[in-house]
Amino acid sequence: MSVPRGVLLLLLVLLFGFTLVNCKKELTLSERVQQLSDAGLKKPVLRFNGDKFRQYVKGTPRNYSMIVMHAHDEFQLVANSWRYSQGYSNKLFFALVDFDEGPDVFQQLRLNSAPVFMHFPAKGKPKKVDTLDIQRVGFAAESIARWVAERTDIQAFTFAMTSGQMWNHIRGPPFLQKTQAGNIAYIHGSSQGQFIVETYIVAMLNAAVVLGMILMTEAANKRDDVRKRRIYAIIGLGLVAFFFSLSLSIFRSKAHGYPYSFLLK
Ligand SMILES: *[C@@H]1O[C@H](CO)[C@@H](O)[C@H](O)[C@H]1NC(C)=O
Repeated sequence: MSVPRGVLLLLLVLLFGFTLVNCKKELTLSERVQQLSDAGLKKPVLRFNGDKFRQYVKGTPRNYSMIVMHAHDEFQLVANSWRYSQGYSNKLFFALVDFDEGPDVFQQLRLNSAPVFMHFPAKGKPKKVDTLDIQRVGFAAESIARWVAERTDIQAFTFAMTSGQMWNHIRGPPFLQKTQAGNIAYIHGSSQGQFIVETYIVAMLNAAVVLGMILMTEAANKRDDVRKRRIYAIIGLGLVAFFFSLSLSIFRSKAHGYPYSFLLK
């Protein structure tokens, strides 16, 4: 029995149309990057349901890394520090999969109730090391940031994370503290901690050292008269020597056993 040509043609057209419609559902790489970038600018952590997870995380080809997890505060901090770092680009995105919105994703990734952080590299499948080993390193923001930097080769936000401001932001330390003896402590006694006011004090000490350096370079400016230049040089040298000693002595008081000091003990 032969099929009439007209029917065959109609079938072909239908098949072709169906393929077209299906293709349209899959976004191209540049469309996906564009949409992720637009959304990522507004919200550092994107929220994915099952469909979006398949589209943006599992979809190929990809030229960006995805870090995926479900519900965690520290994750938000890491994503924020990436979003506002100088190295921010469309190479890396953070996404959150909510159980209610993507139960199938949970099943697929075999996620349970503990927080799971997964990296989906730009090329290839996730390996074992692409799941953060929270048993070993915990899930403090610093650990997450270090792991993300290792897995993605993006160093940008390790710097953002090591600044004292980020530390304060994450840990929320007290502004200053009353000691048991009733005195006020402005500087935390160990290198494992700091007070918010301490960040400002250290910033001011550094600023004073820089001011001293500027005065000394100004002193070398031949257009001013000799007396003015001598005063600049002496004040500059004094500022650098005194405030550098003070920073060093604060550092010594925190890093117990640090052997070096200058002027002040
Ligand atoms: C990834 O590819 C898209 C489309 O070609 C491009 O717009 C985007 O800049 C690329 N991203 C990176 C990190 O190279």
